[in-house]
Amino acid sequence: MNDAITPQTTAAVDAAIRSRRSLRAFLPTPVPRKVIEEILEVAARAPSGTNTQPWKVHVLTGAAKQALSSAVRAAYDDPAERARHSEEYAYYPTEWRSPYIDRRRKVGWDLYSLLGIGKADKARMHEQHGRNYAFFDAPVGLIFTIDRVMQQGSWLDYGMFLQNVMVAARARGLDTCPQAAFTQYHRIIERQLGLAADEIVVCGMSLGHADPAAVENSLVTEREPVSGFARFHE
Ligand SMILES: Cc1cc2nc3c(=O)[nH]c(=O)nc-3n(C[C@H](O)[C@H](O)[C@H](O)COP(=O)(O)O)c2cc1C
Repeated sequence: MNDAITPQTTAAVDAAIRSRRSLRAFLPTPVPRKVIEEILEVAARAPSGTNTQPWKVHVLTGAAKQALSSAVRAAYDDPAERARHSEEYAYYPTEWRSPYIDRRRKVGWDLYSLLGIGKADKARMHEQHGRNYAFFDAPVGLIFTIDRVMQQGSWLDYGMFLQNVMVAARARGLDTCPQAAFTQYHRIIERQLGLAADEIVVCGMSLGHADPAAVENSLVTEREPVSGFARFHE
């Protein structure tokens, strides 16, 4: 079935995908609840093995977002307290190898150099990383969870859902930043949001109108060309 896909549809979908970037400074302009619901409704068209739909989303705005941000930030700013928090699942490898470590370093330094943060400037690095916990001032903070009975396959499904959220946001002129930074503080999130014991925090996400004047939002990350990651067996 070809549900009336025209060249305009192709261009619009590609534009939404290509224009998605992780943005790290937002305007206070609110996002109507109806728009958030619409984004989540369309994102939930993501496929999932046997239609299990493993995603759960906590939508934070106003005082609820502020309360979570403050609680996490307090822990982040206190070295002894920060050391008491760790991720519930491993997002990154424990052993870093090339080319992954090179790409990771490049995006980090590209961001810091745009912001004029030097390699030894630990205080400003701490401050910049801490902006995660304010959802980069976005008016909407999303916390995504998954039931701990679900297996690796459901995490694949989850990634598709997350990408749909980001692309659907783009299609409405909104921007996002997915955030693993929240996972370290899952115990605080559990307490603040009253999560069920079977919910694992997958990640957070900022959602809103990007600040076009913010220098960090000019960061454009690189990609390998197709020839670098695809091998055609003919
Ligand atoms: C699941 C996930 C978690 C991420 N966590 C963070 C984060 O905590 N903070 C942050 O600033 N960026 C985070 N990022 C953004 C990545 O750094 C970004 O996707 C990558 O550098 C590519 O850039 P782009 O999204 O602009 O294309 C995350 C991305 C993903 C997919």
